Amino acid sequence: MHSAVPRPGSFQPSGALLGTLKVPGDKSISHRALMLSALAVGESKISGLLEGEDVLATATAMRAMGAHIDRIGEGNWTVNGVGVGGLMQPSGALDMGNSGTSTRLLMGLVASHRLTATFIGDASLSKRPMGRVIDPLSQMGAEFTASPGGMLPIMVRGLVPAIPISYRLPVASAQVKSAVLLAGLNIAGITEVIEPVPTRDHSERMLRGFGADLTVDVDADGVRHIRLMGAAELQPQQIEVPGDPSSAAFFIVAALITPGSEVTVTHVGMNPTRTGIYKMLEAMGADLTYSNVREVGGEPVADITARHSVLRGIDVPPEVAPSMIDEFPVFFVAASMAQGRTTTSGLDELRVKESDRLALMATGLKAIGARVEEREDGLVIDGSGGEPLEGNATVSSALDHRIAMSFAVAGQHCYQAVTVDDVSPIATSFPTFETMLSKLARKIH
Ligand code: S3P
Repeated sequence: MHSAVPRPGSFQPSGALLGTLKVPGDKSISHRALMLSALAVGESKISGLLEGEDVLATATAMRAMGAHIDRIGEGNWTVNGVGVGGLMQPSGALDMGNSGTSTRLLMGLVASHRLTATFIGDASLSKRPMGRVIDPLSQMGAEFTASPGGMLPIMVRGLVPAIPISYRLPVASAQVKSAVLLAGLNIAGITEVIEPVPTRDHSERMLRGFGADLTVDVDADGVRHIRLMGAAELQPQQIEVPGDPSSAAFFIVAALITPGSEVTVTHVGMNPTRTGIYKMLEAMGADLTYSNVREVGGEPVADITARHSVLRGIDVPPEVAPSMIDEFPVFFVAASMAQGRTTTSGLDELRVKESDRLALMATGLKAIGARVEEREDGLVIDGSGGEPLEGNATVSSALDHRIAMSFAVAGQHCYQAVTVDDVSPIATSFPTFETMLSKLARKIH
């Protein structure tokens, strides 16, 4: 896990950003690739795996529960799985670091195995709500001993045989959906998740890819019914992980706001449940082009080129939120430099991410000179009309990688430097971010 000692970072305006880069593998897909490979009998091969701290926490936990996981080379990993139902009792607590996805999905796996696991995490993760997975997994028969407020540390005692359930998601969360489906893998019968608002569907795609019997029906109201036949047998796979559209978004926004820029990010995942940020930027007038559109590992992929654009403020419809849930911090940066007003709403979930992202972004953006009103469920931002912001302030990242990277991007178009009090959390999802940003910035200097 990253060092407890804060490492400040200063981000200077550096002129046009020019160049082509490939961002690391998708975080959501990387977690799922390790987990499902660990449940297949035989050897799976993963290429393009994200080697950020969050994904490494998943790898360590799967090893602790019996899977053989080896790193062969950069991004290339092999996993020899134990089979569905074959996870073993870990000898110590499972340290999830900063990773909500690892925690919630692994709780699902443990829930239907005969073992007891204690989940611990860092200060940020220990403040995040786990009741949302405790509820359905308790209905399936797992027992939980949680810290007050349903938070970590949490001890989970799985049940075999556990009970298949039909669960309607009360909050739009791919983590909760995935936790229930992963628990259902080791339960005879049909586990159903009813999803009124679509969220990222990597679990569904990958479960099918590993040979699970999973169907998705969309009813007349547009509600998705995902049914998984349990007691599944998973076949080992070769998985190529596409680049993370959430990581790519930082460079795309940096290019859009910085005059003279032209940046191409190759091999970016274009799963429609993840591309809300690109649709909204285009609605603001962003010059984005997509080339080399193809399919990789069951996921659509493209190269995206972004050219500096004068953006115009928009109202972001709340129903778009799940498809850009992780991109709002950097989207707020784009909005703060656009012409006119951008309004966002329905974003209560942003308050329970790695940090309270509405509060942190509002405070930080104001500190660097943006005009921002914080509402209960969103931000209203009056943009600078394309002018640089003042900068010249230190903002807090509060153990949140995406806050740190968003202000690094903001620093590209400010009169003076933006300092982030601690950039070390960037290593949870994008260890090479700062190097890549400085390479783009150095192209003409
Ligand atoms: C994720 C789901 C989202 C997202 C997170 C990754 C996943 O969280 O914010 O970064 O991999 O399933 P929620 O399920 O809490 O919306």
